[in-house]
Amino acid sequence: MTPTTPRLPIILDCDPGHDDAIAMVVAARHTNLLGITSVAGNAPLESTTQNAIVVRDLLGIDVAVHAGAHRPLIAPPRHAGYVHGESGLDGADLPTPSGPPASHDAIGFIIDTVRSNDGVWLVPTGPLTNIALALRSAPDIAGRIAGISFMGGGLFGNSTATAEFNIWADPEAAAIVLSYGGPLVMSGLDLTHQFQATRERIDEVRGMPGRLALVLADLLEFFSGTYTSRHDDLRGAPVHDPCAVMALTHPDLFTRSFSNVTVETGGEITRGMTVIDQRTLIERPAPNCDRLTAVDADAAWAVVTEAIAHFSH
Ligand code: BDR
Ligand code: CA
Repeated sequence: MTPTTPRLPIILDCDPGHDDAIAMVVAARHTNLLGITSVAGNAPLESTTQNAIVVRDLLGIDVAVHAGAHRPLIAPPRHAGYVHGESGLDGADLPTPSGPPASHDAIGFIIDTVRSNDGVWLVPTGPLTNIALALRSAPDIAGRIAGISFMGGGLFGNSTATAEFNIWADPEAAAIVLSYGGPLVMSGLDLTHQFQATRERIDEVRGMPGRLALVLADLLEFFSGTYTSRHDDLRGAPVHDPCAVMALTHPDLFTRSFSNVTVETGGEITRGMTVIDQRTLIERPAPNCDRLTAVDADAAWAVVTEAIAHFSH
């Protein structure tokens, strides 16, 4: 499917992560990818940074990777080895990274890039630590960016009954981001669970030529394996993170609801929950978030496979 918007300038802020890797592929294909920043999340920072470099190398693109925050603002560091393996990207025979990150100052990179380019979208697909630190360090960037399209939160949780991993891992950072005052696009779990790497979809990738497709097929196999072994209702891993990219590049794939969304930072059993106000009261809190509610999953998967094919050689 051809994107319906021009190539938007973005910074992808990620914690690869199997689905972050897919987000990188789609971003490389359909955006003006100004840089990739890594954050601790699915695995410690050293691993997510190395994984971002490896996927960048497999894509063969000339985009710098900058390492960011090695831990959340206040919460203790917690990772998701139970989904992504200890490396954050288990399941495939990965090449050695071509070199170190371009810098260890992702926050400075985000600030400088936003100040020197108009209309940049920030696309975080991990805990929101880097974005919150950038907004706190340089408040002027809130008025410079086009918006923030993030994967996180939703109407239900995965790390806890109410909290999704990216928000649960750094709720204070999420609270800063959700209250920054500019456009927000949210791909929550109730959206991303509609977009699963089913057997048929993984086989489609496996049937494609080239090293990238082979690696991604193996990664998706591992990712879906951990999900289907832990859930009794999924046919494959939800491919969460590329939704935050496609929300910008292929907006027609999604339906939306403009809602007020806040984050619970104090709750004993609800910490990290995104509180989505669905009341129909005439006097209700102003919406702050364009919340994606449904996706045309087959069409979105076609975007993913076309992007993989584009970089397969
Ligand atoms: C989110 O958490 C991570 O495990 C995934 O990469 C995704 O960003 C889903 O809750
Ligand atoms: Ca992620």
